[in-house]
Amino acid sequence: MSTPVKIRIGVIGCGHWGPNHIRNFSVLEGSAVTACADPDAQRLKAVGRQFPGVRTHGDYRQLLANPEVDAVVIATPTATHFEVARAALLADKHALVEKPLTSHTTEAEALRRLARKHGRALMAGHTFLFNAGIRKLKDCIASGDIGRVYYLRSTRTNLGPIRKDVGAVRDLAAHDVAIFNYLLDAEPLEVSARGERFIRRGIEDVAFISLSYPGRVLANIHVSWLDPKKVRQIVVTGSKKMLSWDDLASTGPVMVYDKGVFAVRGGVYKEPYYVNYGDFHLLTKEGDVTIPHLKLEEPLRAEARHFLDAIRGGPNTLSGPKAGIAVVRALAAIHDSMDAGGKPVKVR
Ligand SMILES: NC(=O)c1ccc[n+]([C@@H]2O[C@H](COP(=O)([O-])OP(=O)(O)OC[C@H]3O[C@@H](n4cnc5c(N)ncnc54)[C@H](O)[C@@H]3O)[C@@H](O)[C@H]2O)c1
Repeated sequence: MSTPVKIRIGVIGCGHWGPNHIRNFSVLEGSAVTACADPDAQRLKAVGRQFPGVRTHGDYRQLLANPEVDAVVIATPTATHFEVARAALLADKHALVEKPLTSHTTEAEALRRLARKHGRALMAGHTFLFNAGIRKLKDCIASGDIGRVYYLRSTRTNLGPIRKDVGAVRDLAAHDVAIFNYLLDAEPLEVSARGERFIRRGIEDVAFISLSYPGRVLANIHVSWLDPKKVRQIVVTGSKKMLSWDDLASTGPVMVYDKGVFAVRGGVYKEPYYVNYGDFHLLTKEGDVTIPHLKLEEPLRAEARHFLDAIRGGPNTLSGPKAGIAVVRALAAIHDSMDAGGKPVKVR
C-alpha cells in the first residue's frame, strides 16, 4: 500500500491530551486529521466544535473501520492502550500510543510483534524525548563534555491532576524513565522504590525511586501529584561538569555548570577516581555557569513529525517499540519493588 501525500490521522481519546494531538497533526504539512473517537458524548461534541472538519465517532472501532484513516493516535487512559492499539494494528493502522505504551511488558511485546507482522509503525508517546532541553542534555553527555556521568536525579511534582486508572509511577515516572534511558542509552539494571497511597485505594500518589544503570550510574526519581509545588527538574552530575534542566525556568531550561571535584597532584588536575589516594588532595572547581541558547519547538509537534517520518520509512528508534517496552519493563519492576516494601528488584 503506498503512503498518501497527507497521512490521514484518527485520534482516539479526546480528553485532556487528545485535542493537542488533533491540533498538531492538523497544522503539519504531511498530515490531516480526518476523525476522532471518544465514548464521552460531551467531549466529542466539544472537540467537534473546536475542529469542525473532523468526523466524530462514539466508538473507536467505527474509526478503525473508516478507510479515510491511515494512522491513529491513542490518547485514552493507560489501562485501555493495549486493547485499542492491538485493534488498530489488526486493522492495519499505524499507531502512536500515548505513554506508557501499555501497563504490562507482555502486552507491549505483543504490540511490537503485531506491528512487525502488519508492517506498521508503532511508536510510544514519550514527548520529552522531543523536548529541546532534554535533547541538549543528551548532546552534552554524548559529546563527553561533562565527563563520566555519576548520577541523575529528577523531580516531577504538582498538586494534581490525580488519575483514576494508574498511579503516579505509570503516569509521571514514565516520563523520567524514558528520559534517563535516552540520556544514558541504556536500561536500568535494578530498581528500588517506596510509594504510598493516600487518596485512592490501590493507586500511589507519591514515589521515591532509585535506579541503577550500567557503569555504576545512579539515578533517582521523585514523583508526586500531592505536592504544593509544580516542579519539572533534572540534574545530571558528571565528573567534569554538571547540568540542570528546568522545564519551567524563565531564563532557559538548561544550565551547564563548569563545576566539579578534582584531585590535584603536582599542579595537574585529575579525576579523583583514577588517582592514588595516598598523594593527592581534592579541590572543588567553581567555574562558569552557561545557559545554552535553544531553538524551542512544541515537543508534541516534533513528536508528531517524527511519527509521520516513521510511517514514511524513516527511523523509529527514539521512541519506537524497543524504547517503549523498556519503559514499561522498568515501571513494572518499580511496582514490584514498591509492593515488596522497597526491596531491590532486577529489571527483566
Ligand atoms: N505525553 C504526555 O506528555 C502526556 C500528557 C498527558 C497525558 N498523556 C497520556 O495521554 C493519555 C490520556 O490522558 P488524558 O490526560 O487525556 O486523560 P483523560 O482522562 O483526560 O482523557 C481520556 C479520554 O479517553 C476517553 N476514552 C476512554 N476509553 C476510550 C476508548 N475505549 N475509546 C476512545 N476514547 C476513550 C475518555 O472518555 C476520555 O475523554 C494517557 O495515556 C496519558 O498518560 C500524555
